[in-house]
Amino acid sequence: MTIASATLAELKRCARDAATRAYAPYSRFPVGAAVLAADGTIHAGANVENASYGLSICAERAAIFHAVAQGIRQIAAIVVYTPTPAATTPCGACRQVIHEFGSGALVVCCTDNEQAERHYAIAELLPVAFSTDALAGRR
Ligand code: THU
Repeated sequence: MTIASATLAELKRCARDAATRAYAPYSRFPVGAAVLAADGTIHAGANVENASYGLSICAERAAIFHAVAQGIRQIAAIVVYTPTPAATTPCGACRQVIHEFGSGALVVCCTDNEQAERHYAIAELLPVAFSTDALAGRR
Protein backbone atom coordinates (compact mmCIF):
# COMPACT_ATOMS: atom_id res chain seq x y z
CA MET A 1 0.00 0.00 0.00
CA THR A 2 1.47 3.34 -1.04
CA ILE A 3 -0.10 6.76 -0.63
CA ALA A 4 0.55 10.07 -2.34
CA SER A 5 3.16 12.18 -0.57
CA ALA A 6 0.74 15.12 -0.23
CA THR A 7 -1.81 12.80 1.43
CA LEU A 8 0.85 11.43 3.77
CA ALA A 9 1.90 14.97 4.68
CA GLU A 10 -1.70 15.87 5.49
CA LEU A 11 -2.15 12.73 7.62
CA LYS A 12 1.02 13.55 9.54
CA ARG A 13 -0.18 17.12 10.09
CA CYS A 14 -3.54 15.85 11.38
CA ALA A 15 -1.93 13.28 13.71
CA ARG A 16 0.48 15.86 15.11
CA ASP A 17 -2.36 18.34 15.60
CA ALA A 18 -4.52 15.70 17.34
CA ALA A 19 -1.67 14.93 19.76
CA THR A 20 -1.90 18.51 21.05
CA ARG A 21 -5.41 17.60 22.26
CA ALA A 22 -4.43 14.31 23.95
CA TYR A 23 -5.63 13.90 27.52
CA ALA A 24 -2.63 12.19 29.08
CA PRO A 25 -2.09 13.63 32.58
CA TYR A 26 -1.02 10.25 34.02
CA SER A 27 1.50 9.02 31.46
CA ARG A 28 2.39 12.47 30.09
CA PHE A 29 2.78 10.61 26.77
CA PRO A 30 0.59 12.37 24.19
CA VAL A 31 -0.19 10.43 21.01
CA GLY A 32 -2.05 11.54 17.90
CA ALA A 33 -3.39 9.36 15.11
CA ALA A 34 -4.94 10.04 11.72
CA VAL A 35 -6.80 7.44 9.69
CA LEU A 36 -7.04 7.57 5.90
CA ALA A 37 -10.34 5.88 5.02
CA ALA A 38 -10.82 4.05 1.73
CA ASP A 39 -13.10 6.89 0.61
CA GLY A 40 -10.26 9.40 1.04
CA THR A 41 -11.56 11.03 4.22
CA ILE A 42 -9.26 11.62 7.19
CA HIS A 43 -10.27 10.96 10.80
CA ALA A 44 -8.09 11.97 13.73
CA GLY A 45 -7.92 10.91 17.36
CA ALA A 46 -5.77 11.26 20.45
CA ASN A 47 -5.20 9.16 23.56
CA VAL A 48 -7.64 9.83 26.39
CA GLU A 49 -6.65 8.61 29.84
CA ASN A 50 -8.63 8.10 33.02
CA ALA A 51 -7.86 8.10 36.75
CA SER A 52 -8.89 4.45 36.52
CA TYR A 53 -5.93 3.76 34.24
CA GLY A 54 -7.36 0.72 32.48
CA LEU A 55 -10.15 2.81 30.99
CA SER A 56 -7.70 4.83 28.92
CA ILE A 57 -7.88 4.58 25.16
CA CYS A 58 -5.04 4.86 22.68
CA ALA A 59 -4.99 7.46 19.91
CA GLU A 60 -5.21 4.81 17.19
CA ARG A 61 -8.44 3.30 18.53
CA ALA A 62 -9.90 6.74 19.26
CA ALA A 63 -9.29 7.69 15.60
CA ILE A 64 -10.60 4.41 14.18
CA PHE A 65 -13.72 4.34 16.38
CA HIS A 66 -14.44 7.93 15.42
CA ALA A 67 -14.13 7.00 11.72
CA VAL A 68 -16.38 3.96 12.15
CA ALA A 69 -18.98 6.08 13.92
CA GLN A 70 -18.93 8.31 10.83
CA GLY A 71 -19.83 5.29 8.69
CA ILE A 72 -16.33 4.23 7.62
CA ARG A 73 -15.73 0.49 7.36
CA GLN A 74 -12.43 0.31 5.46
CA ILE A 75 -9.18 2.06 6.29
CA ALA A 76 -6.24 2.37 3.91
CA ALA A 77 -3.66 3.83 6.28
CA ILE A 78 -3.10 5.14 9.78
CA VAL A 79 -0.43 7.56 10.93
CA VAL A 80 0.71 7.57 14.56
CA TYR A 81 2.57 10.62 15.86
CA THR A 82 4.48 10.95 19.12
CA PRO A 83 6.75 13.83 20.20
CA THR A 84 9.57 11.39 20.94
CA PRO A 85 13.04 10.72 19.48
CA ALA A 86 12.02 7.28 18.18
CA ALA A 87 8.77 6.43 16.40
CA THR A 88 6.08 4.65 18.45
CA THR A 89 4.43 1.54 17.03
CA PRO A 90 0.80 0.70 17.93
CA CYS A 91 0.10 -1.52 20.95
CA GLY A 92 -1.25 -5.03 20.43
CA ALA A 93 -4.89 -4.07 21.00
CA CYS A 94 -4.64 -1.29 18.41
CA ARG A 95 -2.99 -3.64 15.91
CA GLN A 96 -6.00 -5.95 16.20
CA VAL A 97 -8.42 -3.06 15.70
CA ILE A 98 -6.45 -1.70 12.71
CA HIS A 99 -6.58 -5.19 11.19
CA GLU A 100 -10.37 -5.38 11.67
CA PHE A 101 -10.93 -2.41 9.37
CA GLY A 102 -7.85 -2.64 7.16
CA SER A 103 -6.12 -5.99 6.81
CA GLY A 104 -3.95 -4.38 4.12
CA ALA A 105 -3.48 -1.07 5.91
CA LEU A 106 -0.27 0.91 5.87
CA VAL A 107 0.90 1.98 9.35
CA VAL A 108 3.16 5.04 9.47
CA CYS A 109 4.84 5.91 12.76
CA CYS A 110 6.28 9.41 12.88
CA THR A 111 7.85 12.03 15.11
CA ASP A 112 9.13 15.54 14.56
CA ASN A 113 12.25 13.99 13.02
CA GLU A 114 11.66 12.77 9.45
CA GLN A 115 14.61 10.37 9.81
CA ALA A 116 12.77 8.48 12.57
CA GLU A 117 9.70 7.76 10.39
CA ARG A 118 8.84 4.09 9.97
CA HIS A 119 6.39 2.44 7.59
CA TYR A 120 4.85 -1.01 8.13
CA ALA A 121 2.13 -3.16 6.68
CA ILE A 122 -0.33 -4.17 9.42
CA ALA A 123 0.40 -7.81 8.47
CA GLU A 124 4.02 -7.24 9.55
CA LEU A 125 2.93 -5.84 12.92
CA LEU A 126 0.24 -8.48 13.47
CA PRO A 127 1.10 -11.63 11.53
CA VAL A 128 -1.37 -14.52 11.49
CA ALA A 129 -4.09 -12.24 12.87
CA PHE A 130 -7.36 -13.40 14.34
CA SER A 131 -10.15 -12.28 12.02
CA THR A 132 -13.73 -12.93 11.00
CA ASP A 133 -12.35 -15.71 8.76
CA ALA A 134 -11.92 -17.78 11.92
CA LEU A 135 -15.57 -17.27 12.82
CA ALA A 136 -16.58 -18.79 9.48
CA GLY A 137 -15.49 -22.17 10.87
CA ARG A 138 -18.09 -22.11 13.69
CA ARG A 139 -20.28 -25.14 14.28
N1 THU B 1 -0.66 5.03 23.62
C1 THU B 1 -1.28 5.37 22.44
O1 THU B 1 -2.20 6.20 22.41
N2 THU B 1 -0.85 4.74 21.32
C2 THU B 1 0.23 3.93 21.25
O2 THU B 1 0.58 3.49 20.16
C3 THU B 1 0.98 3.60 22.46
C4 THU B 1 0.38 4.04 23.74
C5 THU B 1 -1.06 5.75 24.83
C6 THU B 1 -1.79 4.98 25.87
C7 THU B 1 -1.50 5.80 27.11
O3 THU B 1 -2.42 6.88 27.17
C8 THU B 1 -0.12 6.36 26.85
O4 THU B 1 0.09 6.28 25.46
C9 THU B 1 1.01 5.65 27.58
O5 THU B 1 0.93 4.28 27.37
